[in-house]
Amino acid sequence: MEPLRVGLCGLGTVGQGVVELLARNASSIARRAGRSVIITRVASRTPKPEVDLAGATFSTRLDDVVRASDVDVVVETMGGEAAARQLMSDSCGAAKHFVTANKALIALHGQELLAAARNAGVMVRFEAAVAGGIPIVKALSEGLAGNRIHWIAGIINGTSNYILSAMASDGASFADALASAQALGYAEADPAFDVDGIDAAHKLSILSALAFDTPLQFDAVYTEGIGAITAEDIEYAAALGYRIKHLGITRRTSAGIEMRVHPTLVPETRLLSRVDGVTNAVVIHSDAVGASLYCGPGAGALPSASAVVADLIDVARGNALPAFGQDPAPARVPIDDIESAYYLRIPAADQPGVMARVAQILSSKEISIESVIQREQAIRADTGTAWVPVIILTHRVIERDLNQALREIQQLDDVVDTITRIRVETLDADG
Ligand SMILES: NC(=O)c1ccc[n+]([C@@H]2O[C@H](COP(=O)([O-])OP(=O)(O)OC[C@H]3O[C@@H](n4cnc5c(N)ncnc54)[C@H](OP(=O)(O)O)[C@@H]3O)[C@@H](O)[C@H]2O)c1
Repeated sequence: MEPLRVGLCGLGTVGQGVVELLARNASSIARRAGRSVIITRVASRTPKPEVDLAGATFSTRLDDVVRASDVDVVVETMGGEAAARQLMSDSCGAAKHFVTANKALIALHGQELLAAARNAGVMVRFEAAVAGGIPIVKALSEGLAGNRIHWIAGIINGTSNYILSAMASDGASFADALASAQALGYAEADPAFDVDGIDAAHKLSILSALAFDTPLQFDAVYTEGIGAITAEDIEYAAALGYRIKHLGITRRTSAGIEMRVHPTLVPETRLLSRVDGVTNAVVIHSDAVGASLYCGPGAGALPSASAVVADLIDVARGNALPAFGQDPAPARVPIDDIESAYYLRIPAADQPGVMARVAQILSSKEISIESVIQREQAIRADTGTAWVPVIILTHRVIERDLNQALREIQQLDDVVDTITRIRVETLDADG
């Protein structure tokens, strides 16, 4: 058979990984694809003469790839939104298949772009866009295709997981752990995209649409980052038998689909709670299989290239992904309506009766307490007053009711600072 001819756009970390992997494993890739997969053209902003392109023609103009008659599939490893969107649209217009590693592109424009690709009769694949080297798109669209998915919970941002892991192992502050992530190249100079949860929200919206056959709806993802987590919260959570992870969670409920990204207490007995550093891990709960866990590197040149090359092999075989759901978007469960257990850290004055007043407010909203720990007294630097952190774990409750109780507790004279609230997920069969 004729080789599959690749036009690679973007010669950075992932692009260079694709060049290396296609060369390194050329014969096994050809056997699995049913034909060889060769890069004929490369376009990138800056020439990189040090990279061996094995005879491919280099250009700084993306158009030279899109318009080339010797390109069957365009691989986008540039990142960013506007240029990548244009490239995908132009590639469809030129009847070329499209493989991308770009989660923002798919999360924000995938619905429209995949519909255009379908009309143009070309395939679009994006395995590297979610959880890097872990074949999670394939798991959902193929391996588990016979299942009804109940829920997905995953560590899908390596930077946030590295920071939380460093805080847990060294007792480091958020700022120190972030600085160490930046020094190691795990976090960008502007880390907001990762630590504020946007990157995880992009990936979660893709997972959710694949799992529940719904249209992509990035705007409906409730998103909280890790910036407010303290080393003390990590320590208190550990005392209660939990670890704090930044999770993306999507769940089918009778009220609709939940999509949320936030720090979460996970029981230390769950494998997910043990996944540390930049590693990603995703648990999928489905009717036939039950829980299955997918774990591995969520970033890096070769892991991401592995996902891109798997997509190329699928394109070579003619294995198209189904389009995202077309039906009107199903109801999305607003965050106020979710049911969860909660960890509360209440900074209280060190005087008798505080706990009774807090418990009375919780009980008036029918919120029951699973456990309480009270830590040693501390002195507030600004006022010199003595205070104690009161740590409470609640049973499951509707978030709206909890918020109402927290507003009342915050008003108590005994409460000397802002209350911290973190959701708790047990990740058992019913989520
Ligand atoms: N890095 C990972 O581990 C990883 C994992 C999974 C998914 N991804 C995704 O993969 C994509 C690429 O990431 P990366 O880490 O490889 O980025 P990167 O190292 O910054 O590489 C991007 C490459 O694309 C080029 N480029 C950027 N905009 C361009 C444009 N408008 N026209 C032509 N060339 C352009 C850059 O040129 P210059 O050399 O001039 O900068 C650079 O060579 C992103 O969507 C990212 O989210 C990355």
